[in-house]
Amino acid sequence: MNARDTNARLVIAIDGPSGSGKSSVSKEVARRFGLAYLDTGAMYRAVTWWCLESGVDLDDAAAVVAATRSVPLEMGTDPDEERILVAGQDVRAAIRGDRVTDHVSAVSTTVPAREVLVRMQREIIRESGNRIVAEGRDITTVVAPDADVRILLTASEAARMARRGRQLGAAASSNLEAQVVGRDAKDSTVVNFTSAQDGVHLLDSSELTMEQTVQGVIDLVIRDTDTAHDGAAEAPDDTGAAAPEEARQP
Ligand code: DC
Repeated sequence: MNARDTNARLVIAIDGPSGSGKSSVSKEVARRFGLAYLDTGAMYRAVTWWCLESGVDLDDAAAVVAATRSVPLEMGTDPDEERILVAGQDVRAAIRGDRVTDHVSAVSTTVPAREVLVRMQREIIRESGNRIVAEGRDITTVVAPDADVRILLTASEAARMARRGRQLGAAASSNLEAQVVGRDAKDSTVVNFTSAQDGVHLLDSSELTMEQTVQGVIDLVIRDTDTAHDGAAEAPDDTGAAAPEEARQP
């Protein structure tokens, strides 16, 4: 297999905690390799939005599971054009707000609801022709343990808080720490995204810029998919798009 072969399957699974930079990095890696992109966190958020909107009691696990099974969710996979519709409504902005963020763990910690979403995610990966970057918390371990490249992207707590704060700007909530650290603590009770499983590469982005992190992922993709192992792995087509200054981390 070679990452430059535009017909070959290439599933890249990236997991990591909030603020590890995995969404920006995953999207950019998808662009560079010409792959689809799936933000699975957005799916948990969209279901949460749907529950809140339709008056589902988030403390009622059976109701949450039923809502997850019936959610009229359409997920786009173009890294250049985010598309998330619920019942035909564009929910991109609403699912990033505090209301959804503060309640999303009710969905992500309900195991049967996760099973429904995992099935949907596998279907989206299959429909991409197995040419996709999928990111979340359980992609390397549960959704796509057979992915061609599996990466756990981490960053120190200080770096993650700083990034989320910068991302949200003036909209940063005063309970940012609870949102970032507290949510990860809740989620890690049902899924392990704090230590790399066998065969999963650990990439720590605490001291890396966005561009260095993207390059780190590309290096791992090339290393894992270059069957020739001739030490002269080629880089994918570079779009020439330099990382915008405001997207630089930390
Ligand atoms: O990555 P994010 O912050 O948008 O994720 C939203 C929530 O969904 C977060 O609480 C973690 C959870 N999640 C999950 O449990 N499994 C995934 N594959 C993706 C996200």
